[in-house]
Amino acid sequence: MGELVRFSVAVPEELLMQFDNLVARRGLAKNRSEVVRDLIRDALVDEEWDDPLQEIVGTLTIVFNHHASDLQGKLDQIQHAHHERIISAMHIHLDAHNCLEVIVLRGRSDEITKIAEGILGVKGVKHGRLTTTTTGRYL
Ligand code: NI
Repeated sequence: MGELVRFSVAVPEELLMQFDNLVARRGLAKNRSEVVRDLIRDALVDEEWDDPLQEIVGTLTIVFNHHASDLQGKLDQIQHAHHERIISAMHIHLDAHNCLEVIVLRGRSDEITKIAEGILGVKGVKHGRLTTTTTGRYL
């Protein structure tokens, strides 16, 4: 491990409280910094096994508030732009404000990852995760 570098992160108070609960569950040997390092490593490992030329099928699950300014419109626009890779989408109205969408994508790993990151990067998307599996084919 190289030299430790400090950086500051702004998070909503409630999210920090939930994170501290996670830190507590991981035991006395772990503090905030160590759990953040674990999470960063997990994220990097998840990306590593991806061979960019392999065909994958992925499900992207996102939660968002449909009242947020034209968020639904932006999400639809991205999905239409990639209609050849997005093979299905399911929209669930969770409550009066929140929606959950499950988007199924199929294509080359690097393309699917990029589309998913574009969707996750839309302002107002509260939470999201891409889960992938490979078809064993190369494109
Ligand atoms: Ni909805």
